[in-house]
Amino acid sequence: VESLDPEFGSRASGHIGWGRFPSEEPIMSAIISLLTIIPSDYRNEVVLITAGPTHEAIDPVRYIANRSSGKMGYALAQAAQKRKAKVVLVIGPTSLTPPPGIHTIPVTTAEEMRDAVHKHFERATVVIMPAAVADYRPDQPAETKLKKQGQEPMSLKLSSTPDILTSLALQKSGQFMVGFAAETDNLIEEATRKLKAKGLDMIVANDVTKPGAGFGSDTNAAVVLDTHGIVEDIPLMPKRDMAMKILDIIRLRLDHQKQTLHTV
Ligand code: C5P
Repeated sequence: VESLDPEFGSRASGHIGWGRFPSEEPIMSAIISLLTIIPSDYRNEVVLITAGPTHEAIDPVRYIANRSSGKMGYALAQAAQKRKAKVVLVIGPTSLTPPPGIHTIPVTTAEEMRDAVHKHFERATVVIMPAAVADYRPDQPAETKLKKQGQEPMSLKLSSTPDILTSLALQKSGQFMVGFAAETDNLIEEATRKLKAKGLDMIVANDVTKPGAGFGSDTNAAVVLDTHGIVEDIPLMPKRDMAMKILDIIRLRLDHQKQTLHTV
């Protein structure tokens, strides 16, 4: 059974919110992918995927977060599952229903995400990290709710969170590592910098200011880069199709790595 998420907008009740019947585009894309023969080319792979944002507590009722919906990570997890991978999905707080049949580990903070990812890293053969991990967190979260101090400005002291991918690079033992870069400017430069700084094999860069390619949408457009430069420019398409494309690109690279090992 394939289920689609409802869409956001005006509803028959007169309210605006989640609950609209999906539009033709995601329905058609779901039908096409159900009718397409999907290869089992990930059956020997263990794919570790992260999704969604992280929440960093300010006090017991407030937190710092971002607009990530987790949809790209979910799409990748479902695509890898269809291609018969063993999938471990580490998800930050999202409103999405966990995909059935996938080993899903819910986490809240960047530190929890790091711990969950590290726990499953060793047995993974591919790691894909679309999660929008918070880069900073409040230094000292308050134990009780902070009270408003009249109209006085308020400042929060932030400290940086652990960079999960960088910490994984130190323990890498053959895993194919893919990061994501959601940018508003200097897309290629920023993505290339992150690819190198985080020791990645590949990075998927998307300009979140482009219509249909931002956080929360069901579609995405992206440029895939490796250490030699641009690999593929993926046009706007449903995230489930982009997930399949990304897995195609990774598969080619894994096969190439294996061939090179055999030749050596
Ligand atoms: O936040 P940034 O743009 O640096 O994210 C780029 C990549 O690094 C993403 O794949 C993200 O999941 C990962 N990341 C991470 N640990 C962080 C921040 C980001 O692994 N603390």
